[in-house]
Order: sequence, then structure tokens, then C-alpha cells
Amino acid sequence: MKIEKMTAAHLDAVCRLENDCFSHPWSRTSLESELNNPNSLFLVAVEGDAVTGYVGMNAVLDEGYIYNVAVAEPYRRRGVGSALIRELVTHGRKNGFAFLTLEVRESNAAARSLYGHFGFVKAGERKNYYSDPAENAVLMTLYF
Ligand SMILES: CC(C)(COP(=O)(O)OP(=O)(O)OC[C@H]1O[C@@H](n2cnc3c(N)ncnc32)[C@H](O)[C@@H]1OP(=O)(O)O)[C@@H](O)C(=O)NCCC(=O)NCCS
Repeated sequence: MKIEKMTAAHLDAVCRLENDCFSHPWSRTSLESELNNPNSLFLVAVEGDAVTGYVGMNAVLDEGYIYNVAVAEPYRRRGVGSALIRELVTHGRKNGFAFLTLEVRESNAAARSLYGHFGFVKAGERKNYYSDPAENAVLMTLYF
């Protein structure tokens, strides 16, 4: 498995991942605009020709906001999500971030467990943050 910066060549595959994984997927236009955003870091995991997962983050000064993490179903539970998050954690540490933070559906035990492995802790809750289906968000933060 290789972790690479997302480029225009990955957009089709990343759109598919978004559509497969989320009820409100990011549009291709939104993903494309991140390619030219100097404050964003979007990474893909690649195996042969296949994009198996992706992660996206935006930095505001020394604060890192993770937008999304998604791994294609056939490739889950093989360390792809961990490899992607590890890259962001390394990036945050190297660049003197104060923290990395994200929102996750309360019921998303897989993602919450993944973040927990990296030291993210529950830092708050947003009631009914999500729709389709309606659900609370848990804020999880890794303090450096
Ligand atoms: C959450 C997600 C990114 C995890 O990716 P992954 O590549 O399967 O994760 P990894 O193989 O690196 O697993 C790391 C840890 O996460 C946890 N985990 C992953 N899948 C899990 C599952 N189905 N059930 C419980 N824990 C799980 C485990 O703690 C696992 O460690 P372990 O394998 O040593 O037990 C993936 O399931 C996914 O894309 N889900 C749909 C999209 C999504 O919910 N994204 C998060 C939005 S906030």
C-alpha cells in the first residue's frame, strides 16, 4: 500500500468512495477545489491501480480539522484507515499543530475506535449534527 497526495487523476475514485460511504457525499467540484488549497492536505491510499481509501484535512493556523476518512469496503480492516490517519498525525506533529479534531457519528463504532487508537479523545458533542439519518456528532480531538 502506498499513501500519496490526491491529484486530479484520483478524483473519479475518490468521488466513488464518497458516494459509497456517505449520505451527503462531497461533490467532485468541492474535492477538486481542495487540490489547489494550500491549507488542505488530501491523501489517497493506493494498491496497484486501485484507490483503496482517502483522507482530507484543512489547517487553520495550528489547528487541524479532519473532514473525512473513507476506505473502500473490500479493503477495510487491513490497516488502510490507520495508515491514512497516521500520516495526518505525523504531519500535525511535524508542523507544530496544537491539535487535530473531527466530528464522527455517535454510532460509528469503527471510526471512533480507529481514532481512539491514535489518542483522539471525546471533546464534545453536537446534537443532531447529522441528517439522513439524524444523529449526534461526537467531537474527537488529538491534543499534541
Ligand atoms: C472507519 C474506517 C475508515 C476504518 O478504516 P479501516 O481501513 O477498516 O481501519 P483499520 O483497518 O486501519 O482499523 C483500525 C482500527 O479501527 C477499528 N475498526 C475498524 N473497523 C472496525 C469495525 N468494523 N468494527 C470495530 N472496530 C473497527 C479497530 O479498532 C481497528 O483496529 P484493529 O483492526 O486492530 O481492531 C472504515 O470503516 C470506513 O471507511 N467506514 C465508512 C466511512 C466512515 O465511517 N468514515 C469515518 C467518518 S468520521
